Amino acid sequence: MKERLWWRDGVVYQVYPRSFADANGDGIGDLEGIRGKLDYLVSLGVDALWISPIYPSPMADFGYDVSDYRGIDPLFGDVEVLDALLADAHARGLKVILDFVPNHSSDEHPWFRESRRSCDSAFRDWYIWRDPAPDGGPPNNWLSNFGGSAWAFDEHTGQYYLHLFLDKQPDLNWRNPMLREAMYDAMRFWLRRGVDGFRVDVIYHVMKDAEFRDNPPNPDYREGIDSEAQRLLPLHTADLPETQGIVAAMRSVVDEFPERVLIGELYLPLERIVAYYGEGLEGANLPFNFLLIGAPWEARFVAGLVERYEAALPEGGWPNWVLGNHDKPRIASRVGDAQARVAAVLLLTLRGTPTMYYGDEIGMHDVPIPFDEVRDPFERNEPGKGLGRDPQRTPMRWFPREGAGFTRGVPWLRLGDCVASRNVATQSDDPASLLSLYRMLLRLRRGSSALSRGAIRVLGVSDEAFAYERRDGDDRFVVVLNFTDAPAALPVAEPAGACVLSTHDGGASGELRANEARIYRGSL
Ligand code: NOJ
Repeated sequence: MKERLWWRDGVVYQVYPRSFADANGDGIGDLEGIRGKLDYLVSLGVDALWISPIYPSPMADFGYDVSDYRGIDPLFGDVEVLDALLADAHARGLKVILDFVPNHSSDEHPWFRESRRSCDSAFRDWYIWRDPAPDGGPPNNWLSNFGGSAWAFDEHTGQYYLHLFLDKQPDLNWRNPMLREAMYDAMRFWLRRGVDGFRVDVIYHVMKDAEFRDNPPNPDYREGIDSEAQRLLPLHTADLPETQGIVAAMRSVVDEFPERVLIGELYLPLERIVAYYGEGLEGANLPFNFLLIGAPWEARFVAGLVERYEAALPEGGWPNWVLGNHDKPRIASRVGDAQARVAAVLLLTLRGTPTMYYGDEIGMHDVPIPFDEVRDPFERNEPGKGLGRDPQRTPMRWFPREGAGFTRGVPWLRLGDCVASRNVATQSDDPASLLSLYRMLLRLRRGSSALSRGAIRVLGVSDEAFAYERRDGDDRFVVVLNFTDAPAALPVAEPAGACVLSTHDGGASGELRANEARIYRGSL
């Protein structure tokens, strides 16, 4: 194994740029703000930051609707600030990963404006246009992930265009070689500037059925709970075999530059996630593993996931784990404050690259957003199902004061309560805080080849607790996690080594305390 490889041994930290730090006081985070927080990320102990989209955008989906793949939206700064951010990050040993959004652009992208101008436009085929069905309706039954038909009618040319997300996010046609080259060149544009890799948005959606066949109904659809798109199984709109070639081509582009990374966003079953490593590992370096996000928080379930995932990985494929992101409810809201500490130990001791979500290190919860303050189009389209993503996108809290040190203006989303205790400054001064726990874990992980890149072996599991070993040669740790709020017996014999970390104060031996996680170093 290569001595040190940042994306394998390190920890990725996701920054949602609107919500991290606002330097210019307009209530929306920006690149200058992120730049000012690099020392925080160094002191936290992460290795790389992934920044959600910062490209020019009408912001219909908050940057996931890109109108120029080679620019920076003025809300966030400009290309010079990004260059400065890259230089400052690199000077501190931090890597910078950008989001790349290949499935769709904004309808305000010049390519789409040109494409919709006429059926004969040179750019017509850069998007997916179809004639109406014989009754004048949409060409087939495909549904938008944000609700309603995936087809929007264009009066001017009399055809429908496909949008798997908002109608302001027309899908690009990846079967067109010119489009593909333009997108690969956009990736090179950023890689040349020193960007260390990409997290690729909905990579599994880029190819659609060439025959435009209807998607079949989903027999498990839950009315009033699931999103409308889940009425159908995405058989012809997701995870098509042809997608693998595109992923491999993106990987080749990234590999034109040394030590860059390609991360793929995938909401797919386990067996399909691991397919995105590519047959000869020519696919994504890290196909995102979101298995923990939807998992019941139970020892046996989580242990089973770890074993199934480890068993499914292709030879040489490096694992990764995620607890939350800007699309899913926050971990502290899902499992509660006490278990959020156990989750931190799990994330940072499993085998594989962890991706942290900003604010989770201080235990931020989802913030309820009153309907008249809702910003997310998903919530507006499908209200009341709990699908909206504003609650997990609220501003980072830096200090216990007005604006939480995030902004001197009016924050774009409300801050929520508990700012006085859940902020970086207050928790930095408290050795028992979640932030201090994260810092300890990150330090321990960084200093240990067993934890950062060693093997994993499940040692024991009970209804309450889960234990595993991480090992690299003589460097050896045992991790024990109590998933319940009651004391629990160790699911293994008491490890002989010293307990080097616990979520709880005081001596750690014998049975686990309620909500306790422990790490032992040394022999069993
Ligand atoms: C996945 C992104 O994470 C999400 O925020 C976005 O709305 C959709 N893709 C569409 O780009």
